[in-house]
Amino acid sequence: MSALPAAAPAFDQAEAEAFADKTLSILNHGAIAAMIAIGHRSGLFDVLAGLPAATSATIANAAELDERYVREWLAVMVTGGIVTYAPKGRTYALPAEHAACLTRDGALGNLAVYGQFVALIGSLQDKILERLESGEGLHYHDYPHFHGMMAEDSGQTVTGQLFDTILPLVDGIAERLEAGIDVLDAGCGRGGALIAMATRYPNSRFVGYDLGEDAIRYAEGAARSAGLTNIRFEARDLTGYDERERFDFITTFDAVHDQKDPAGLVHGLFGALKPGGVYLMQDIGGSDHLENNLDFPLAAFLYAVSLTHCMPVSLGQGGAGLGTMWGWETAEAFLKDAGFVSVTCNRLPHDPMNVWFVSRKP
Ligand SMILES: C[S@@+](CC[C@H](N)C(=O)[O-])C[C@H]1O[C@@H](n2cnc3c(N)ncnc32)[C@H](O)[C@@H]1O
Repeated sequence: MSALPAAAPAFDQAEAEAFADKTLSILNHGAIAAMIAIGHRSGLFDVLAGLPAATSATIANAAELDERYVREWLAVMVTGGIVTYAPKGRTYALPAEHAACLTRDGALGNLAVYGQFVALIGSLQDKILERLESGEGLHYHDYPHFHGMMAEDSGQTVTGQLFDTILPLVDGIAERLEAGIDVLDAGCGRGGALIAMATRYPNSRFVGYDLGEDAIRYAEGAARSAGLTNIRFEARDLTGYDERERFDFITTFDAVHDQKDPAGLVHGLFGALKPGGVYLMQDIGGSDHLENNLDFPLAAFLYAVSLTHCMPVSLGQGGAGLGTMWGWETAEAFLKDAGFVSVTCNRLPHDPMNVWFVSRKP
């Protein structure tokens, strides 16, 4: 007897309509997110936070921007539920409770920084459509303003928490830094974290490497302005990195998964540590199994960043293209394969997207 074809599941009209509503909401919120980037980069959120309820002309004047454009941006913010509007006096206000997560000195951090990533993702549409066909990668020069965005991100999640919550993950490191040791930050970007450590620990010596020449030039300028003499930056491709037993403490902040050869870099960093040295790695804390990431904070955002940046820049260097969600399991395996011992995986409340591995060289 031949099996009957399985009946198609009944079409659920209510479910379809609810999903259409959800899709409309996603589109509306996506547009708001991109406009949050404009509010951040133009300084409009900071200006609004410093003003009482004001007209678009007053706001534009205070921000030194064009009133017509500002008024249209304000309309997005009002309909998006971010700014309030009083029709009588045609005034706009940013409630203090909203300014707390949208301004440069917001009490809850500045989430507007991440609007820039949404805007960047959108701007890459044409390139990703081409790559979907060709499978080719992208290069750092395809991402204008990337190092600036990253510096703002790590300025909050790394540098801002370095001394209170991050370095305390590494037993005894503050004392060793005070006494004087050699430190490397690999993939240092604009170098904010390293400059903060070099300022705090004048007896230690600090080196920062990054592929990005513009990021390194920025870091050198910032170190010069701070009057530091215990820090050096170098534009350097870390592919095949092979210095031997030079450093006591090595850090990478969100700088392994998008390398050409992440496993090779972890091996290289192991070789560059002196015996007894410590490696502190911050990297994305998602799982390498998609099904484990359904409730991971900002998972869809992170996969989108992966598709448009982390995966293609690795592929563009001829690399593995592991992607942003390479998985903490992969990171742990790379650390153990490289020879690290007492590998511990930490999560910090201020940084729900990342894990912090502390690993020692025997
Ligand atoms: C996501 S960013 C993080 C930057 C910095 N650690 C921070 O937290 O702001 C990753 C960094 O890795 C650097 N990078 C990527 N591939 C590299 C390579 N092959 N050699 C050296 N640096 C590389 C990039 O230029 C970029 O600055």
